[in-house]
Amino acid sequence: MVANQKGGVGKTTTAINLGTALAAVGEPTLVIDIDPQGNASTGLGVPQSARTITIYDVLMGEASLAEAIVPTRIPNLSLVPATVDLSGAELELIDRPRRNFILKDALAEYSADGSSVHGRTGEDAPTRFSYVLIDCPPSLTLLTINAMAAADAVMVPLQCEFFALEGLSQLLKTIERVRASLNPSLDIQGIVLTMFDKRNKLSDQVAADVRQNMGEKVYSTVIPRNVRMSEAPSHGVPALVYDLRCPGSQAYIKLAGELIQRERSRLAA
Ligand SMILES: Nc1ncnc2c1ncn2[C@@H]1O[C@H](COP(=O)(O)OP(=O)(O)OP(=O)(O)O)[C@@H](O)[C@H]1O
Ligand SMILES: [Mg+2]
Repeated sequence: MVANQKGGVGKTTTAINLGTALAAVGEPTLVIDIDPQGNASTGLGVPQSARTITIYDVLMGEASLAEAIVPTRIPNLSLVPATVDLSGAELELIDRPRRNFILKDALAEYSADGSSVHGRTGEDAPTRFSYVLIDCPPSLTLLTINAMAAADAVMVPLQCEFFALEGLSQLLKTIERVRASLNPSLDIQGIVLTMFDKRNKLSDQVAADVRQNMGEKVYSTVIPRNVRMSEAPSHGVPALVYDLRCPGSQAYIKLAGELIQRERSRLAA
């Protein structure tokens, strides 16, 4: 899952472009949009009209995860879309006994269900995804809690700005609490520095502080601030497709390589 309770730090951009880079090297990848803003759905080119079965229906128990998966224009990359309906889910689920584990249960049901899933568009979604990336909203609602209860690990995009470390320590406390109560194996997958501006001295200082505090958890790949990254979503394509050569896209390709390495050693351990 990609999470940070701070808004606008690059969660969605990371989910979309990391997902695309993983798919491009042949790893079947699923992005689950669990943010009522639906930015990952828009950024992956799935218009509102194509969001007929969404993560909301899955959480409400009205659809299985398999039924909510749609293909994207990127080979190997699938999506569970979100719409603004999702903003009502928290209240509607309040009395549900396993309300923190709905996404976990849905994912478990999906992997237990051996057959390949026939999507509504006629394309088959793979039975097993190598990676499932959950794009979280910038808040600690039941939606983020569901993602934390379901996930193996949290990927934290961190914008290189003054309050970054304070936000991070809040998130670390939350992860500790989730570990103690809902998901003892929840790990911090890594921290990725985003929107790095090399002309800004503060960026360097923050990056150094984060590395000092968090050590090896911090990816050596840094995502630069790059206007091409912010242009891509309005075209409904990942930046990697919009402009593969731009520094931001190249950084996400490097990040995917680092992530694959890291996951291999995590699984081997
Ligand atoms: N490396 C980058 N360079 C320039 N702009 C970027 C970069 N990464 C993200 N952006 C832009 O910054 C804004 C915030 O990014 P993004 O939507 O990924 O953040 P977020 O953490 O998902 O936000 P929210 O908390 O609202 O979900 C977007 O307009 C995005 O296009
Ligand atoms: Mg977002």
